[in-house]
Amino acid sequence: DWTMASYKDEAIRKIREQVGDRKVICGLSGGVDSSVAAVLIHEAIGDQLTCVFVDHGLLRLNEAEEVVKMFRDNYNIPLIHADEADLFLGSLEGVSDPEVKRKIIGRLFIDVFQKYAGQIDGAEFLAQGTLYPDVIESVSFAGGPSVTIKSHHNVGGLPEKMGLKLVEPLRELFKDEVRELGRELGLPESFIGRHPFPGPGLAIRCPGEITREKLEILRKADAVFIDQIRKHGLYDDIWQAFVAILPVRTVGVMGDGRTYDFACALRAVTSVDGMTADYYPFTHEFLGETATRIINEVKGINRCTYDITSKPPGTIEWE
Ligand code: XMP
Repeated sequence: DWTMASYKDEAIRKIREQVGDRKVICGLSGGVDSSVAAVLIHEAIGDQLTCVFVDHGLLRLNEAEEVVKMFRDNYNIPLIHADEADLFLGSLEGVSDPEVKRKIIGRLFIDVFQKYAGQIDGAEFLAQGTLYPDVIESVSFAGGPSVTIKSHHNVGGLPEKMGLKLVEPLRELFKDEVRELGRELGLPESFIGRHPFPGPGLAIRCPGEITREKLEILRKADAVFIDQIRKHGLYDDIWQAFVAILPVRTVGVMGDGRTYDFACALRAVTSVDGMTADYYPFTHEFLGETATRIINEVKGINRCTYDITSKPPGTIEWE
């Protein structure tokens, strides 16, 4: 009978068979998928694997440091940390269309990845943490006609351009199965349980133009929201939770002064695979306390809303 332990052994056997004694590079996003793929491949072929972590400057508070620490210190997996925030944020200046953002980020991601991967002599394979829903959602939606709702930048383009063959050990798995595989591989629970995070990162949680100022505010607000969720013991009941900073300033009062700051939206959903989702039914107390904390603790935000849209018709992300 089928267990994750036997799936792991079989996956390792297949990776060894496919790769032999050749070299693999793996793009790490810091998310669960690419992390599990990297650790699995490392278990299969050891130091024939090098990871490249492209830091596009659109990560959450302290995220880059945590990822680098986890892979270098805990696992001893060779890792290149490509800090390219200036390049990405520079190229996104003045851009507000969501698909244009994705295209710019996707294209730069390929360029940057290629640049760093070029430093690894003789790599022949590219590993990706592609999941089953990634494979199908990019071609169809809710059983309807073939339409691309959002172009996910982590599938396609790169291997052909670099003349690399793909290693995609998670292609048959759903998210919950990837987590189970991660546990089987001994990844820390705090890492495995992390909510999914999109490749374009905070770019698609910052509708309209992206500025460093907005990103900084967004990171702080997001950290407070997640802290609230953890403190109330709700993190594991939620598929994904985050803050989006809205492209609008609104008027408020604070002390005896008038404020004119950004509004933000909290988003938290339950889901099985990200393809459909329901908003999370927080209590009014939780929402009130969270709004108060964000407005008091995060300079630059003076209004907080809660997004109660389900998917469909909404999407999980705001862009
Ligand atoms: P949506 O917003 O389409 O999101 O309901 C479904 C799931 O996919 C993630 N997502 C992305 N992941 N590149 C990614 O790697 C993308 O461009 C992208 N857009 C959305 C989203 O976070 C959610 O988990």
